[in-house]
Amino acid sequence: MISKYLYINTIGCQMNVYDSEQIAIRLAPLGYQQTSSLEMADLVILNTCTIRAKAEQKAFSFLGRLAILKKKKPGLIVGVGGCVAQQQGAKMLERVPHLDLVFGTRTLDRLPALVQRIENKRCRIVDVSMSEIPDLSDTAPGEGNENQVSRFVTIMRGCDNFCTYCVVPYVRGRETSRHPDSIIEEIRGLVRNGVKEITLLGQNVNSYGKKEGLCSFPELLSRVETIEGLMRIRFTTSHPKDFDEDLIKAFESSEKLCNHIHLPVQSGSNRMLKRMNRKYTRELYLDKVTQLRDTCSEIAITSDMIVGFPGETDADFNDTLDLMRKVEFDGLFAFMYSDRPNAPATQFKGKISKQQKSERLQILLELQESFTKEKNQALVGSVQPILAEGFSKRQSSGSFDNQHQAAQWTGRTSSNKIVNFYQNDNPGSCDDILPGKLVYVKIEKAYSHSLWGMPVEIESAAEGVKGEKCYAA
Ligand code: 5AD
Ligand code: SF4
Repeated sequence: MISKYLYINTIGCQMNVYDSEQIAIRLAPLGYQQTSSLEMADLVILNTCTIRAKAEQKAFSFLGRLAILKKKKPGLIVGVGGCVAQQQGAKMLERVPHLDLVFGTRTLDRLPALVQRIENKRCRIVDVSMSEIPDLSDTAPGEGNENQVSRFVTIMRGCDNFCTYCVVPYVRGRETSRHPDSIIEEIRGLVRNGVKEITLLGQNVNSYGKKEGLCSFPELLSRVETIEGLMRIRFTTSHPKDFDEDLIKAFESSEKLCNHIHLPVQSGSNRMLKRMNRKYTRELYLDKVTQLRDTCSEIAITSDMIVGFPGETDADFNDTLDLMRKVEFDGLFAFMYSDRPNAPATQFKGKISKQQKSERLQILLELQESFTKEKNQALVGSVQPILAEGFSKRQSSGSFDNQHQAAQWTGRTSSNKIVNFYQNDNPGSCDDILPGKLVYVKIEKAYSHSLWGMPVEIESAAEGVKGEKCYAA
């Protein structure tokens, strides 16, 4: 078979990262090999996101740039998938004349056939149909990407929550859970290929399996826990309204579940939460945070926040700042509200000016920065088990730092904080670091978005993650 090159550009969330991996796996039998060079590509796939206006603009600007490439290389096939494709459908072909294929969020299984038709007939195709049948056939072999330590696994698709600002239910369809057997089989395959950490993905993992009468999410977690060779489990995202005691207990009982939860709150104002259709109050949210911290004192909590939702007053915004002061998140993703097609809030009165949104975002980010720094600083002096992922970006060529004569590695704490560290030559230190190895690192410096430390030898750190908690130095 002639080798052809596939270039994938992924915009947006982890869900899209997973889907892009699935795209690559499914196109490999057609002879497509992934490349990081756009110029070499015979097929370019843009996997899009439409959650916020900015992500959608990014997609169109990338497509615009492809026009020149297509002129130089008329045989090039250009395809767009993901949420923008789902939302725009055939309109995209009109808007982008050099586009060959538009495929939706539930058409991954059909993608190879669509690409083959274009190769043979040089036609333009749109397929954005939403299969009503649960897409359970989407287990792809857990092979593919070279030597990755950490991978995502989608356990459910779509969303039934209809938050008023959100486009997801319209572009990703109703919530559908994958069968646990298919999930377990996929993770086993990944682990056989060297993966040590997996992140289970869903828009609201707390409602996993409920509609289909499969097992509950905590039950799924305990099945995943039994997979030998898997060291760490993460999951995202949780909806506070469904975040129950069973899941909180899992942080206590599970040895592989990491000490981190992403629990989007979106606003600290009850009035805004109601208008957003979030179905919980700030009091309930704060209560869940207390329960979590009572159960697992080391847990890191991160969240999403929207500023400038229609009708947000200064008092509402102050409630958000107040909630942030009460929780002291480890990290926060904050967004200026933007109108999205089909989302009910697009029709709401009381739109906030761009300038005011931007001012509020600035205030919020500054406040968060102080908490993030404080949380990172608190780890200085402790010894943390770090799952080594590879060379840090600065050292990704594998080159060595002159001053330290050591490779700079990167990995994460159980609480999901990035730690860079040197592999040093001191006697007794961990001088045989490999991707996927658990390395005990003494944290020496804290920065805004990462930590820095040196490996230390800990006898008990031999194998596995039993007791993978932080050690006071
Ligand atoms: N405007 C701004 N932020 C949004 N998000 C979702 N929809 C919008 C919107 N219309 C944010 C929410 C969500 C995150 C993934 O994106 O905070 O949790
Ligand atoms: Fe969107 Fe709300 Fe569903 Fe999250 S829970 S995907 S914010 S509708």
